Amino acid sequence: MQIYLIGFMGTGKTSTGKELAKLMKRELLDSDDLIVKQEGMSIPEIFYRSGESGFREIETEVFRKLSEESGEYVVSCGGGAPLRTENVSLMRKNGRIIRLTATANTVYNRVKGDTGRPLLQSDDPLRRIKELMAEREQAYTAAADITVETDKKTPEEVAAQILETLTK
Ligand code: S3P
Repeated sequence: MQIYLIGFMGTGKTSTGKELAKLMKRELLDSDDLIVKQEGMSIPEIFYRSGESGFREIETEVFRKLSEESGEYVVSCGGGAPLRTENVSLMRKNGRIIRLTATANTVYNRVKGDTGRPLLQSDDPLRRIKELMAEREQAYTAAADITVETDKKTPEEVAAQILETLTK
């Protein structure tokens, strides 16, 4: 059974994933890293060359491969992964889906200045975050088996809370 961490950019999927993987004695995989490795290009480069739709095609290929993986991993998922119901079905096939949340302000503070996220390269990133969050809310809610708020919590605290919920 895989543990898939989903949620908006900056909700702490990677940092929480590291802690959770440690606690569960598993390896951490990251869908973005798998994409970068497979394509031999950075995320901004893929968006530049193939657009968001090209990126989403590759992302689904990666989730298909993960759904066939027999090893048990903690998987940190790119923020847009749950937007395709196909990806969510692939995750459900062999995993539990944990959604991390944070307010728009928290996300903004965590990601500001970062140039690795093409969707947030805007004159008004906070506004863009709010728009995208509102657009995506339903997809995230529909995908999640478990939801954990991350505002004012350390990745260690979030990971411990996830583990507690999983083992209940
Ligand atoms: C995206 C989130 C990013 C990355 C890409 C698109 C999104 O991952 O997959 O830039 O659509 O929310 P993180 O959530 O790890 O930043």
